[in-house]
Amino acid sequence: MRDVEFRYPGTSAPALDGVSLTISDGEVVGLAGPTGAGKTTLCMALTGLVPHSTGGTLSGSVKLGGRESRDTPLGELLSPLDADRALVAVTFQDPESQIVGMTVEEDLAFGAENLGVPREEINRRIDEALAFVRLDGFRESFPYSLSGGQKQRVAIAAAIVMRPRLLILDEPTSELDPQGRAEIFELIGRLAASGEYAVLVVEHALDDLAAAVDRLVILESGKVRFDAPPAEVLRDVDRLVEIGVRPPDASVIGIAAERAGLLPPSPIAFLDDAALLAALAR
Ligand SMILES: Nc1ncnc2c1ncn2[C@@H]1O[C@H](COP(=O)(O)OP(=O)(O)OP(=O)(O)O)[C@@H](O)[C@H]1O
Ligand SMILES: [Mg+2]
Repeated sequence: MRDVEFRYPGTSAPALDGVSLTISDGEVVGLAGPTGAGKTTLCMALTGLVPHSTGGTLSGSVKLGGRESRDTPLGELLSPLDADRALVAVTFQDPESQIVGMTVEEDLAFGAENLGVPREEINRRIDEALAFVRLDGFRESFPYSLSGGQKQRVAIAAAIVMRPRLLILDEPTSELDPQGRAEIFELIGRLAASGEYAVLVVEHALDDLAAAVDRLVILESGKVRFDAPPAEVLRDVDRLVEIGVRPPDASVIGIAAERAGLLPPSPIAFLDDAALLAALAR
């Protein structure tokens, strides 16, 4: 995305305001910001839904796999670059709204069938994806009977079956309990380690997210305020609080300990409790 400004139809304030952002193959990027900052809008711009389905006015450039979004009809824009790999797949906050099948298997097959992946290959991918999200044995299950965390993992599995170049997870944990949340972040860690996908993970808060990503992008009022490695971004705890994104406790305490002279000044922030405790124990 370069210098992207976007307004929804009939609105005057831009939902995206001068956004420039690049996500490369295999890169894992976290996107955070307060409610209404434009996170979902940004995700939709990266799938062409903004502006193709929403309408509204978009200026600047959004390129998906080299294709200029504005000049390319949606079907063509999202057509695979490489045979049987989707360009982009998205999961949304509410896992139930994404269920399209009466069994987990049907749900997982849907996207790949649309890509024209042969049946045998789809079957193989479904097995792999279910194992990956640790839902082996749930192939015949009724998706609505699953827990919130399981539904979200089914949604991620359905995306994985399409082998997307870019996988976008829009607030995958917002409706989950801490256990479900931990499972999703463990899964994101394995997605990242696989190196197979670029991943964009949207979250409200930075706990868990910061330690899971290569880069952290912070949006405020449609503007990119930070785009840097998490350990750099989390140095600026005061600014993050001002924007309305809560930094992890470890970062806040680490900075306070430095200011109090309890820790030596450091160019990087503590991303989690373990790192902070290790430094304090030294
Ligand atoms: N369909 C729409 N029509 C008009 N304005 C919209 C539409 N969808 C979103 N907006 C506005 O665009 C801005 C960005 O919204 P967006 O949903 O992208 O924010 P967000 O960061 O995803 O918020 P949340 O954390 O609540 O999900 C907000 O001011 C919102 O009110
Ligand atoms: Mg949103």
